Amino acid sequence: MNDLAGKHIVLGLTGGIACYKSAELCRALVKEGATVQVVMTAASEQFITPVTMQALSNRPVYCSQWDPREPNNMPHINLSRQSDAILIAPCSADFMARLVHGAADELLSLMCLARPIATVPLLIAPAMNREMWAHPATQRNMAQLAADGATLLGVGSGEQACGETGDGRMLEPEQILEDVVAFFQPKVLAGRKVVVTAGPTFEALDPIRGITNHSSGKMGFAIARAAHEAGAEVSVVAGPVSLPTPRGVRRIDVRSAREMLAATEAEVAQADVFVATAAVADWRPATESGQKIKKEGGSPPPTVSFTENPDILATVARSARAQAGALFCVGFAAESHDLAANAKAKRERKGVPLLVGNIGPSTFGQDDNQLLLVDAQGAVELPRASKLVLARQLVAEIARRRAQA
Ligand code: C5P
Repeated sequence: MNDLAGKHIVLGLTGGIACYKSAELCRALVKEGATVQVVMTAASEQFITPVTMQALSNRPVYCSQWDPREPNNMPHINLSRQSDAILIAPCSADFMARLVHGAADELLSLMCLARPIATVPLLIAPAMNREMWAHPATQRNMAQLAADGATLLGVGSGEQACGETGDGRMLEPEQILEDVVAFFQPKVLAGRKVVVTAGPTFEALDPIRGITNHSSGKMGFAIARAAHEAGAEVSVVAGPVSLPTPRGVRRIDVRSAREMLAATEAEVAQADVFVATAAVADWRPATESGQKIKKEGGSPPPTVSFTENPDILATVARSARAQAGALFCVGFAAESHDLAANAKAKRERKGVPLLVGNIGPSTFGQDDNQLLLVDAQGAVELPRASKLVLARQLVAEIARRRAQA
């Protein structure tokens, strides 16, 4: 993916052991297509060298406001005017305090102060010991930075370099990357709440065995991520899948269709959009044995009779809020043939304004897909692309329709 293609990012390093993660972060930003200009404070040079950061960013690193390489000797102006964002990672407690006060006695803080505040956003990934993090001064500084328009990316929790355990670690490079990518996406669902079902369901036969399917959950998780990127508050109700939860998305793990229905009904009560991507089992074993069904020598194999599962999408689409237009419902159809005709029929049967068709066997477990959006007006094809790219297109379509509703 090239989610940061054309973006010019100033990556600022301040003093903290998390600087070792900034090397990986720099690589990840470059790999995603960004141009990365590294700026380092003197304290950060105690932890990692400008040589390392220059090699990874493929650009000279700036460490001083007196750097004679700039013809006008104003790197704080030149570098900030060229950038789409300044990302401070790691941002030390001391550097936050200095930002709050508008300190400008070295290049990085000077650049933050001199940046055009309306067009060059400031993103901050703090990193510090847990006591420093919890200190009222730090919390006060964070609140002030947010009030001044900075975006605080939060911190991780766990073992710290000092040997203590708690909050204050810098986020992992891939988490920061996800946040930076999200930051640049258009906020077409700001203030909305979105619920997504994803993955397969598992219908138990006994405590050991059950019936499930090949859905990987990737499409649903991509939609959850795209909706979060678009500014929505997102819950994903997930069947058994082993995917990482997208940043900022609330995840509710369930197993059976009935559990998925209960969790979904609770979540959609306040939602604006519901997207049903889960491959819900149509039937479940009529009885679930409390004990493992044993293979007895000579006895015939057991027979399994089935009973129908609730249709989650149809149930939600029939609810009063959906019928009143307060909850916009989107269904999926995985077909093996006659996609357009089947998707059209399914949209009417499920009673939803928008149904997304895809060819099941060519999407299960894959990272890319191809979609057919079917509504009352007709069908539009979204050509083959990664599931995340398609998810963003679908989210834009949903936002457009929601705005018209
Ligand atoms: O009827 P079919 O399973 O093909 O419909 C697919 C759509 O309905 C998907 O959006 C799927 O998530 C949803 N569905 C559901 N509950 C079911 C079966 C399907 O929400 N029991």
